[in-house]
Amino acid sequence: MKKIYSIAFLVIVSIILISISSFQIQNESSLKKEKSLASFKQMLTVIKHPRCMNCHPSDDSPRQGDDRHVHLFNVQRGNDNEGLAAMRCNACHQKTNNPYSNVPGAPKWHLAPIGMAWQGLTDEQIGESILNEKTNGGKNLEELVHHMTEDTLVLWAWNPGKGRALPPLNQAQFAKAVKDWAENGAVVK
Ligand code: HEC
Ligand code: HEC
Repeated sequence: MKKIYSIAFLVIVSIILISISSFQIQNESSLKKEKSLASFKQMLTVIKHPRCMNCHPSDDSPRQGDDRHVHLFNVQRGNDNEGLAAMRCNACHQKTNNPYSNVPGAPKWHLAPIGMAWQGLTDEQIGESILNEKTNGGKNLEELVHHMTEDTLVLWAWNPGKGRALPPLNQAQFAKAVKDWAENGAVVK
């Protein structure tokens, strides 16, 4: 009889211990999720800024300026996102900003492919789209972080030439938000 009592006691104690630790794990993971989502919200203030959006349209026209108007001269994306034959992006856009004509520039200036279009998407859809390897150019999470923190077209947004507003976070703040977002699980909703 005594033995049964002590087994029952052990069982009860283990159940209590297991539920305490699973509660802690759950708490920790919901905390991580919250942190990741907060970082994603910060990232969105940059992603949805005209400096990024102007190159990620949902149609064939790049946009210009802080008011995101349709690109002058009816410039179109073309088959390779680098412009139609007569209006190639690199005919006007050089490797650096042109201080005289104020034409913005960075190496291999061209439009994000249509699968990377963000215009008109909800925040959650933007997040799902950048995480989807079928539409993001086959990038895993590490490559995505690298792209958003190192790519020259992305970095151009913080050196856009005169008369163009900067994104609301500086580059270091954006890079930190991207890394924190990824480390805590890349949550988008
Ligand atoms: C005929 C010359 C010309 C061609 C071709 C051209 N652009 Fe432009 N682009 C300009 C000029 C000039 C500006 C600056 C306009 C301004 O700031 O008022 C500009 C600005 C832009 C901007 C605005 C950046 C910002 O955030 O304000 C984007 C984006 C852009 N071009 C993308 C492209 C893409 C992509 C292509 C090729 C599909 C292309 N352009 C082809 C002349 C051209
Ligand atoms: C001059 C045009 C241009 C500008 C400005 C630009 N992008 Fe892009 N973006 C591209 C192109 C082109 C690609 C595709 C490149 C590739 O796959 O290697 C791309 C791809 C991406 C991707 C890959 C995943 C996906 O699904 O979109 C991300 C994320 C991204 N850009 C973020 C940004 C952010 C953030 C900014 C602003 C800080 C920005 N971009 C500004 C042209 C641009």
